[in-house]
Amino acid sequence: MTQEQDRVVIFDTTLRDGEQSPGATMTHAEKLEIASLLDEMGVDIIEAGFPIASEGDFAAVSEIAKNSKNSVICGLARAQLPDIDRCWEAVKHAAQPRIHTFIGTSPLHRAIPNLTMDEMAERIDQTVTHARNLCDNVQWSPMDATRTEADYLCRTVEIAIKTGATTINIPDTVGYTAPRESAALIRMLLERVPGADEIIFATHCHNDLGMATANSLAAVEAGARQIECTINGLGERAGNTALEEVVMALKVRNDIMPFQTSVDSTKLMNISRRVAAVSGFPVQFNKAIVGKNAFAHESGIHQDGMLKNAETFEIMRPEDVGLTETNIVMGKHSGRAALRSKLEDLGFELGDNQLKDVFVRFKELADRKKEIYEDDLIALMRTTTDPE
Ligand code: KIV
Ligand code: ZN
Repeated sequence: MTQEQDRVVIFDTTLRDGEQSPGATMTHAEKLEIASLLDEMGVDIIEAGFPIASEGDFAAVSEIAKNSKNSVICGLARAQLPDIDRCWEAVKHAAQPRIHTFIGTSPLHRAIPNLTMDEMAERIDQTVTHARNLCDNVQWSPMDATRTEADYLCRTVEIAIKTGATTINIPDTVGYTAPRESAALIRMLLERVPGADEIIFATHCHNDLGMATANSLAAVEAGARQIECTINGLGERAGNTALEEVVMALKVRNDIMPFQTSVDSTKLMNISRRVAAVSGFPVQFNKAIVGKNAFAHESGIHQDGMLKNAETFEIMRPEDVGLTETNIVMGKHSGRAALRSKLEDLGFELGDNQLKDVFVRFKELADRKKEIYEDDLIALMRTTTDPE
């Protein structure tokens, strides 16, 4: 392997696979903004688009390549020489360019261009060679790898390595694999393919069965050292592996997954909100790490625990993902301790009897209203007579 054993490269494809999501199209200016946020937050590689897909994609990838400060800028290309040339024309402006070329290797995908196994092997040889003649940094992907026959997968990966690919990405294109299988596939490739120890294996998972994050982490434990992911898990169908989930999982559970990334996690919340805004895909309230409720507590037992020691119900600090504080949500499940604390924050000092009175009226209100806001609490205090 050509990198430190414990470092995992983060490859963000929000602007390529994420933007392919129906309805998630971003404008040129929005793509530049997201790329610059990714660059600033320490993402190693940004897949900025698919240059042959449209003039707009070409322009965005070229511009991002010119502006990137730290990240490698990658473009996608099918296994066709004009695609690869167009991709190179766009990414060549970057200080660190990468060409990513792919072909579907599973029986279902081989049937589409109607290529035999030998013809496809020949195409891989020709296109990876061509890409490597243009650029030192070439990534190759056997699309639908998780449904490709093991022997043929090994054969095609070997050709791609021999012809100059420096990263081999193993896509679970349809989100079909499971963690144990994801790990076994990487282990098998590392054991069987000559030259496998000279390149980086990447994992690229889709979330159709809700296992993308688990599958990506299992692949890393088996030897993959690049995770392909998107902000908020944006992507076709059920989306891709969510960047914020793998970054925080590796940070919080570093005891059992001792791998480092270079992503500054305190920037996660901001970029999540920007991607939601520009893609028009809102983040679900209970989404891990960046959902509105990920650091919110309403139940009395949880709020009481949180007020005494935040670690009782939180495994990460809100500051670690860029939030200023835990959100104690006042509602019908809230208890007396949380109400007192919230009122104190608003400047009201209450004796025990007054708290008892306000608490009864607070519960009546909470039964009628989903969430109680600060203004509601202030109104409650205005109509309270001090029984002390
Ligand atoms: O899911 C997939 O197979 C892809 C490839 C183009 C890498 O996005
Ligand atoms: Zn994909």
